[in-house]
Amino acid sequence: MNTVLVGAQWGDEGKGKVIDFLTEEADVVVRFQGGSNAGHTVVVGDRKYVLHLVPSGVLHEGKHCVIGNGVVMDPFDLMKELEQVESWGFALKGRFHISERAHMVCEWHRALDRAEEAARAQDAKIGTTGRGIGPAYAAKVGRFGMRVGDILRPDFQDRVRAQVEEANRALTALGAQALDPEEMVRLYAPMVKALMPYVTDTIQFIHDKLDAGANLLFEGAQATMLDIDFGTYPFVTSSNPTAGGACTGSGVPPRKIDRVIGVIKLYTTRVGEGPFPTELDDADGETLRRRGGEFGATTGRPRRCGWFDAVIGRYAQRVNGVDYWAMTKLDVLDTFPVVKICTGYRRKDGFVYTTFPADLDVLKWCEPVYEEMPGWQCETSHITRYEDLPANAKAYIARILELIGGKLGVLSVGPARETTLRINI
Ligand code: GDP
Ligand code: IMO
Ligand code: MG
Repeated sequence: MNTVLVGAQWGDEGKGKVIDFLTEEADVVVRFQGGSNAGHTVVVGDRKYVLHLVPSGVLHEGKHCVIGNGVVMDPFDLMKELEQVESWGFALKGRFHISERAHMVCEWHRALDRAEEAARAQDAKIGTTGRGIGPAYAAKVGRFGMRVGDILRPDFQDRVRAQVEEANRALTALGAQALDPEEMVRLYAPMVKALMPYVTDTIQFIHDKLDAGANLLFEGAQATMLDIDFGTYPFVTSSNPTAGGACTGSGVPPRKIDRVIGVIKLYTTRVGEGPFPTELDDADGETLRRRGGEFGATTGRPRRCGWFDAVIGRYAQRVNGVDYWAMTKLDVLDTFPVVKICTGYRRKDGFVYTTFPADLDVLKWCEPVYEEMPGWQCETSHITRYEDLPANAKAYIARILELIGGKLGVLSVGPARETTLRINI
């Protein structure tokens, strides 16, 4: 059984937690896009682990973890994270693999990320994580990127020099400080030794595992509405976090994917800039942020919060072909007397959009159409069987499923591993 897991909204849906849960029955967990802009949290007992580049399955001994070709990997972030994982007591030897086709995020990509963001007008700022993601993918698509496998080439140092000189032209045009190519050579030269043990032909590795009948789990970072093609462009990340990205970002053929699981929070959050139709600027938004602990796992920024948006849910179901939903954070809604679901965006002339518009300006003239449902006003985080949920919570979930399509597979009622209900999968 090969499973692709994706985020349905603007990220931070609880993908890390659900991956950790599903890793139990997987043999290999593969990251296929994004980089250290991701922050995936797994809570086990009273310990909280945050992973950025390393797949969230790493907390299960013996499971293989792969960084696929679609990822952009900052070697310093990775080394720090690998050390951290080992310090937590999880051995990595022989089970951690990086694609030689993955691209590297280097110091100059980070400098460009900062300089480009600083140069954007106030209303055009993206609010990036500053991890160099956009410039690294731009270099990849522009065909002047640096791949992980390049560290093993005899001309590696010359490549670093050429890359820095290229980046310096853009940096100085943006009014930013140029970098010293020789200093960068000194900085990156030790990477050869550090990364070498992990560099793998992951296409071969993944296909050998597929041939052997192993269970592969593909871990998406970011989410549908941050997708470079399907998201709120240009307020997006620079990769394809949607299900198709699992194929291009790892080499798994589409027909080898048995199911797609979408992770969706039972309200909505966003971190960074860009449109957010159901955003709340009031006490309800504050309650969601406080009860949901909605502060970025990577940057610590407070997340913007709002009601559940079924327009987005339906859109994500279609674009990803979601078979099963992992619905998360039900418990955060426990205190609300009324919960709301957005079913469309109404334009001033009365027209209602029920699919997400490509032209973001449209949203400026729209307001969300809400359905209100009674809350359940009791604690749900101790519940271990779906049948035991309060009737109003079941009705809320059922109405959402009716609006967005797909089946319920997993329900999460708290941050910890045990607070996960298996429904249909
Ligand atoms: P990811 O990026 O999709 O992996 O999500 P993050 O880890 O960035 O953010 C999700 C946050 O919600 C983390 O702090 C999780 O520990 C927490 N979380 C996940 N599921 C639940 C849940 O069902 N209830 C509550 N209260 N917290 C949850
Ligand atoms: P996980 O995997 C939430 C957002 C940033 C910014 C935009 C572009 O934890 O869900 P980037 O640095 O990628 O160029 O920033 O995307 N963003 C995320 N928001 N969760 C994430 O990852 C994100 N990764 C990027 O805030 O708005
Ligand atoms: Mg996150």
